[in-house]
Amino acid sequence: MQTSWTKLYSEIDGCTKCRLCEGRHNIVVGVGNKSADIMFIGEGPGHDEDMQGVPFVGRAGQLLDRMLAAIDLTREDVYIANIVKCRPPSNRNPEDDEAEACIPYLREQFALVRPKLIVCLGSVALRHILGKELRITRERGRWHEKAGVSIIATYHPAALLRDESKKREAWEDMKAIRARYLQIKGE
Ligand code: URA
Repeated sequence: MQTSWTKLYSEIDGCTKCRLCEGRHNIVVGVGNKSADIMFIGEGPGHDEDMQGVPFVGRAGQLLDRMLAAIDLTREDVYIANIVKCRPPSNRNPEDDEAEACIPYLREQFALVRPKLIVCLGSVALRHILGKELRITRERGRWHEKAGVSIIATYHPAALLRDESKKREAWEDMKAIRARYLQIKGE
């Protein structure tokens, strides 16, 4: 399928494919480097993201920035998007039908950015990208290869804010991501 950022943005503009359109202030498409080798995928916008139209700008986003900095990356090195592009009410998880309605947009973003590495942040991204049956506690830190793309899941930064004990494993995952990223870059 031929696509372009202009086509994608015009398709998304005013989207009413699911009920999440009812309460949104902004559609939160993505941020970062549109030719990044690495793409991070979260769950869906929260309050701050909904108000600003940019992914991961609240507390979890600030932690994500620190996680990136810890492996020498910034938002300019990566592309960041979410499974759903409109805020679920009260920050509940997106329903499966909402995610399924929105994922074609994410596929288009993927086709445009063409990352070599995908990081699923948390269980919603893991389930919709790698398989509905998977659990983040078991699956995090494991590499999957799909059509030449390396995919890994780690804890969502919001989960790390709730439970500090997960930080050690998340740090292991970030180091593995760094190593694979350098390998891909040939450094
Ligand atoms: N949590 C997410 O999953 N995505 C965001 O953009 C912000 C918080």
